[in-house]
Amino acid sequence: MATVVITGANRGIGLELAKQYAAAGDRVYAFCRSPGSADKLNEAVAASGGKLSAHAMDVGDAASITAGAAAVGDAPVDVLINNAGILGGAVQKLDEIDFDAWIDAFKVMTIGPFRVVQAFLKNLRAASNAKVMTVTSQLAASTWPFGGTYAYSSAKAGVNKVMQTMALDLKGENITVSMIHPGWVKTDMGGPGADITAEESAAGIRGVIANLGAADTGKFYKWNGDIHPW
Ligand SMILES: NC(=O)c1ccc[n+]([C@@H]2O[C@H](COP(=O)([O-])OP(=O)(O)OC[C@H]3O[C@@H](n4cnc5c(N)ncnc54)[C@H](OP(=O)(O)O)[C@@H]3O)[C@@H](O)[C@H]2O)c1
Repeated sequence: MATVVITGANRGIGLELAKQYAAAGDRVYAFCRSPGSADKLNEAVAASGGKLSAHAMDVGDAASITAGAAAVGDAPVDVLINNAGILGGAVQKLDEIDFDAWIDAFKVMTIGPFRVVQAFLKNLRAASNAKVMTVTSQLAASTWPFGGTYAYSSAKAGVNKVMQTMALDLKGENITVSMIHPGWVKTDMGGPGADITAEESAAGIRGVIANLGAADTGKFYKWNGDIHPW
């Protein structure tokens, strides 16, 4: 049984990851901004037989991250998934962009994952072979040119570099740090016309995490296990 921490776990890919890990018998700490109104997550908690619990954490807010991490105490954390994400503004064009929303994209998707790992570092170090996985995007990659999306793409590219750097800093500590493109997924963010379901994406992400070894630290994956060029 692994202990798993997931951010943004009240809907979309994060909720599905939480449900799948709990169904597999793992102990899952599911974090979200508003557990009180996270109906689908709370239903899953009630059905999980104690495997899944919901806790508050806004990954754009340093104090909220610290307070949320306290829910796990000193327990070793085997798997930490930085999943929470936002688009970073409805319009992201060269001639029209919301700079505050761009800053929010960096707070939530670039600096937030760094802070979340910092907050759980003692728990990761207490595990025998911990894995940190950050859900980024193909839009982070220079090999995937896509116009517009300045805020989203730059925040995801930024977190890829943050995680690659962290992988180097944690080398030798038995903590694997990697990144993943979850596919184009039918969620609120991906829309109904996307390629795969949240169930398929989460199953793929879990499979990649399960197969990670020390030599894989710093790598960027696709949900199907392929390496993502970037
Ligand atoms: N869907 C795709 O096609 C696709 C493609 C590439 C990458 N991704 C990435 O995959 C991850 C999951 O996306 P998704 O498709 O499942 O999107 P989603 O359905 O829109 O869910 C996003 C999740 O992130 C949470 N979140 C947003 N801001 C947060 C904050 N400040 N603190 C904590 N949680 C926050 C949301 O919580 P609230 O309900 O409180 O807003 C929600 O639980 C994201 O990192 C996204 O960028 C998705």
